[in-house]
Amino acid sequence: MTKEPLYSDGSRISVAFCCLGNICRSPMAEAVMRHATNEMKMLHLIDEIDSFGTSGFHAGDGPDRRTVQTCRANGVPVNHVSRQVRLSDFEKFDYIFAMDRENLEDLKYMQPRGSKAKIMLFGDYCEDPKLDRIVSDPYYGGPDGFQRSFRQLDHFARTFLKKLAAGTEQ
Ligand code: 4NP
Repeated sequence: MTKEPLYSDGSRISVAFCCLGNICRSPMAEAVMRHATNEMKMLHLIDEIDSFGTSGFHAGDGPDRRTVQTCRANGVPVNHVSRQVRLSDFEKFDYIFAMDRENLEDLKYMQPRGSKAKIMLFGDYCEDPKLDRIVSDPYYGGPDGFQRSFRQLDHFARTFLKKLAAGTEQ
């Protein structure tokens, strides 16, 4: 694994995750990415990791208790306060990862022309045919949905970081 930074000027990259309410999936994704970055000894490549929602329905709230329980059961600390996406986020972050296609379309619609963020479905980093690329909304379901989201997010995060380390992620 190379230790070269992604960008030739040596700067580190910033990533953000986006779902609808920013209380279930995207705070979990943020926590999982931070944990995987640390575990894979890649803190030197990543500057900021954050998350937000396309809606402000839950702005100011902490993560859903099922997200907290699932993260905790998997040894991942989670700590976030929900907020809605801001226009400045499209200039601040190198990558904004959407959980599902609706989040993706909403972000693309909002993105100011010429801003730097690369907006992608996080599931574009799926290399396991057994996992769905869409992180579907677990809010109205049972705990199984949260564990399924966790498995997806952990796999996508590690795939992204592997590509980043290999210098194949631009
Ligand atoms: P999230 O889940 O987008 O993964 O945070 C949801 C949380 C709340 C609602 C919908 C989805 N809601 O309608 O309140």
